[in-house]
Amino acid sequence: MICLFVVFLVFVVSSPCLSTQITNQKDSIFNVLHYGALGDGNTDDTHAFKAAWKEACGATKDTPTLLIPIGKTFKVQPVSFEGPCKSQSVHVKLLGTIIAPSKVGNWKWNSNDRDTWIRFYNINGLVIGGGGVIDGQGNTWWSCKSNGNCQKPSGGSGYARKITFKDIILQHVQNPVIITQQYVDNHSFGSSSPKKNKRNYGSSSAVALSDITYNNVRGTSESEEAIQLICDKNVGCTNIVLEEINITSSNGGKTHATCQNAHGTSSTCMPNVDCLH
Ligand SMILES: *[C@@H]1O[C@H](CO)[C@@H](O)[C@H](O)[C@H]1NC(C)=O
Ligand SMILES: *[C@@H]1O[C@H](CO)[C@@H](O)[C@H](O)[C@H]1NC(C)=O
Repeated sequence: MICLFVVFLVFVVSSPCLSTQITNQKDSIFNVLHYGALGDGNTDDTHAFKAAWKEACGATKDTPTLLIPIGKTFKVQPVSFEGPCKSQSVHVKLLGTIIAPSKVGNWKWNSNDRDTWIRFYNINGLVIGGGGVIDGQGNTWWSCKSNGNCQKPSGGSGYARKITFKDIILQHVQNPVIITQQYVDNHSFGSSSPKKNKRNYGSSSAVALSDITYNNVRGTSESEEAIQLICDKNVGCTNIVLEEINITSSNGGKTHATCQNAHGTSSTCMPNVDCLH
């Protein structure tokens, strides 16, 4: 299982060929508006996100892309985007804004994961980005995890790799950058605070994590621990790259980073991530 956040650079094509390109890309772009989302900042758009994700994850043409368009604000309840997907890579193009319901008491939890708001689960080649905003309204915004149902390469445990978060703005999010690696054999695992989860690291069944990049991620954190890279002591996380990170505390305090068994590089990060090496 893994938790991360980042964004990915989106090339908006504005050329005379635009309409042709749209036509060509039609089969690989899954716009939440086409699945019934309103993006008025008030209506619950969760269902549309799930429906669009289901098709994106099942698509094989080009690089399937879940599109969250610009100029709209989508309110979504806790939602889990699950793989494995059919394509080797899936993009989430976040151009608009996603907000959480303002009070946790108003959240509609799925029975199994009462932990994080947006969860990516068992997806390889996931790229999240586009310059949009994720407004957690004070909540943990996302995590991704794998469990025993994880797709396993022969002879090994599960793995997740090549996940990129690029150009993302986070507002009032708890634990904005979070990677956790822990094998769980049932759905009871769950906490918005990885502090409570400092157990069982060292399981030989942990899902291998590698090639995870966060580039140009900015915003505010509700928690002082803005960056957490918590990896299994046997499996570890490799090639974690953090670049151009600037996460300040929502309340004006200092933020910091913590790592366990995380390997990779960092540059131009606030807070600094010297613990990653
Ligand atoms: C799931 O985990 C919880 C807490 O660790 C445990 O109490 C429960 O028995 C487990 N359920 C199964 C089916 O393993
Ligand atoms: C980081 O963000 C804060 C708040 O937006 C800003 O004041 C500061 O100049 C930024 N630091 C860098 C190095 O960009």
